[in-house]
Amino acid sequence: MNRKLFSRNTGQILSSEITPESIYKQRRQFMQAALSVAALPVLGYSSVLAAAPEYDIPTDLPRYAGPDWMKQKIAGAAHNAAFSVKEKTAPYYHAITHNNFYEFGTDKRDPARYAKSFKTDPWQVEISGAVAKPGVYNLEDILAPHALEDRIYRLRCVEAWSMVIPWLGFPLADLIKRFEPTSKAKFVQFQTILDKEQMSEQRSSFGTIDWPYVEGLRIDEAMNPLTLMAVGMYGNALPPQNGAPLRLVVPWKYGFKSIKSIVRIHFSETMPETSWNITAPDEYGFYANVNPAVDHPRWSQATERRLPATLLSPNIIDTLPFNGYADQVAHLYKGMDLNRLF
Ligand code: MTE
Repeated sequence: MNRKLFSRNTGQILSSEITPESIYKQRRQFMQAALSVAALPVLGYSSVLAAAPEYDIPTDLPRYAGPDWMKQKIAGAAHNAAFSVKEKTAPYYHAITHNNFYEFGTDKRDPARYAKSFKTDPWQVEISGAVAKPGVYNLEDILAPHALEDRIYRLRCVEAWSMVIPWLGFPLADLIKRFEPTSKAKFVQFQTILDKEQMSEQRSSFGTIDWPYVEGLRIDEAMNPLTLMAVGMYGNALPPQNGAPLRLVVPWKYGFKSIKSIVRIHFSETMPETSWNITAPDEYGFYANVNPAVDHPRWSQATERRLPATLLSPNIIDTLPFNGYADQVAHLYKGMDLNRLF
């Protein structure tokens, strides 16, 4: 997202990126595939079938089933219509090949190319700081009590492109409550795995980011019902390039807040550092709420390119305050000067 990277990646989708319509599956085929992974709990099966929206799922792209224990959870996910937008979801192909995951490279296609063998199981997450139950937990244990929901959210990148993505996850608030934050827990910081062996950009001496990637939220933002911990998308486990096995999704904020491949969740009294704010404090703030009225110093945030788009059909739409989620979150920022606290 620095000057060099942004101009190199204006986000234009190459015509070669557009998937032939013929390889998309219809809803029934998708559901069969998604549900064939395991014997299903009856409730999960029926609720998914009854309410699942249509996704464009190509037949010949890799699917990410995840470890066996996760397959069971994913198969039991129920669609949450109240927390889903009705807009058309991005074709699966675009969601898994147009990515920002700088640990694997700065080109939009690098994560799909270089994260293929990223090892995401077994996986542990450290819970630390101002909580009654700190510790290092296996992902399976972290997820155990949480039922997964399918929620369709807008994802608005600070680079002025957007997609609509169906995530599988659970409210971060439910996870936070289990570890019993103390009264000192005013902020939450998230950290991505540091693994130079697997992540080429973390080895590079010319990297833009001081690794590991870190992000943060105020505790009330973290507890908002919209804030999601995701382990899957499009009815399957998260692909490595989308932040497997565990990522954050904060739909009213620019995409860089939605940190991938999380290994640490830390509770603190003071505002934590965040990667893009350290890298370019004049351009990327801590709050990073989607705001069409506050331009990035180098480009307008008034509109966005909804992907998929092409040069001939750029699909430019107006950007909405809080990415269209103002009713749910505007109260969190009452009295704050959002021009200054961008
Ligand atoms: N998390 C990590 N660890 N590293 C990254 O480079 N990029 C962010 C965010 N999370 C990033 C990250 C940005 S800028 C965006 S727009 C979203 O991931 C993109 O998510 P997607 O690739 O699943 O669309």
